[in-house]
Amino acid sequence: MDESKRKFISICLGGVAALAITGFAAITYPVFRYYLIPPADKNSKGKTTLSLKDIAVGSAVFFELGGSAAVLVRKQDGSLVALSAVCPHLGCIVQWEKERQDFLCPCHAGYFTPDGEVISGPPPRALAKIPFTVTNDVVTLG
Ligand code: FES
Repeated sequence: MDESKRKFISICLGGVAALAITGFAAITYPVFRYYLIPPADKNSKGKTTLSLKDIAVGSAVFFELGGSAAVLVRKQDGSLVALSAVCPHLGCIVQWEKERQDFLCPCHAGYFTPDGEVISGPPPRALAKIPFTVTNDVVTLG
């Protein structure tokens, strides 16, 4: 076998080995990562705090609570509503539409009021409410 054929075969075998290693890593990495860094416990309740000063009237602040997306709304009248941001239809995360003062679920065009009640679309029920307290302009959620 001449030198150029040997070099070509060597390059091909190197490429196959690199692909095999990459494929093996792509398959095994998520498994090892799961065991090394387990995902947050979806059932843990947890608590979090937000400063009332950071939430303008008519806006919403998204945060994580117990490993799940949640949102605090400061309605036009100044009152607060804390909700799960997880759509009860198929679990997409809702978005706050400041101009319309409502929530849109982008997956299937579900709309919710600022209080989380269903306006239209496929969601079968309202967004889940989250309990909260306000003390000295600090909102404690969960
Ligand atoms: S997941 Fe929200 S409307 Fe379908």
